[in-house]
Amino acid sequence: MAAPRHLRTLEDLSSAELLTLVQRAEELRALRGTPEHPRPLAGKTVAIVLEKASTRTRVSFEAGVVDLGGFPTTLIARDTQMGRGEPLEDTARMLSSYVHAVVFRTFGHERVEALCAASSIPIINGLSDLFHPCQLLADLQTIWAEWGRLEGVEVAWIGDGNNMAHSWILAAGMTGLKLRLACPEGYDPDPAVLARGRARGAEIMVVRDPAEAAASADVVTTDVWASMGQEEESAQRERAFAGYLVDGGLMRRAKDHAIFLHCLPAHRGEEVAAEVIDGPWSRVWREAENRLHAQKALLELLVR
Ligand code: CP
Ligand code: NVA
Repeated sequence: MAAPRHLRTLEDLSSAELLTLVQRAEELRALRGTPEHPRPLAGKTVAIVLEKASTRTRVSFEAGVVDLGGFPTTLIARDTQMGRGEPLEDTARMLSSYVHAVVFRTFGHERVEALCAASSIPIINGLSDLFHPCQLLADLQTIWAEWGRLEGVEVAWIGDGNNMAHSWILAAGMTGLKLRLACPEGYDPDPAVLARGRARGAEIMVVRDPAEAAASADVVTTDVWASMGQEEESAQRERAFAGYLVDGGLMRRAKDHAIFLHCLPAHRGEEVAAEVIDGPWSRVWREAENRLHAQKALLELLVR
């Protein structure tokens, strides 16, 4: 049997596949609810295994699998035998005999790699501490819907050099997006991930000043200051990220047509002002909707 294809990071796709997938996601958006909508997952089951909280990832995959004719089953890991210590590898072997793909949300990225290594079915990273590739599929679709291109679009990332920042870095490497990240000292992206993005020739800058990153940007984006698993660092992070609020003043430094993206959940008044996330710059609801369409395009590609 051919080895399964996984989505551990965006790099599991070719640049051409990534672009095709983004365009296919837009097609699926238009086909939703019509008789022409494809059902390639008929008779197939997809497990969604969650070791961290989720709203969007869970529901968009569940609804997407149903749209494609399949059956989703969601496991909250702490309520399964995994939560009582059953090895990940044993879980992988067993799930491989029941279902046709697994979406896995976890802490250390090595757990995604370990699940892939022990599985004979596609594994989709539904967020790890290091990457959140499914969110980038939706974010790239949202940019594509706005301007019909990705190459040369200038993106300003304001805040933590976290799993979302890392995913933007790989996306820049693969698509020719120009990326400027403004991160407080001590919260830069992982240098190894930066090197991976830059190795493909992408223009990726890390600066300290949010205004410098936002200047002339087409897209301004941010994320929470304390990610899942970092709750105990919240107070320290609030101090470190003071001055990294995306407000109207910062948005006005970007291009006149600039849009604001956020993977959600958001904290109004911390990383983003209500006037931005709830104002005319915001595309966050379309971005959240696009999780559904982009992941359906991904499932079409990976699940055989
Ligand atoms: N953006 C995102 O992944 O949302 P959830 O944590 O709700 O899945
Ligand atoms: N960086 C955030 C993203 C949530 C979708 C986290 O990991 O919690």
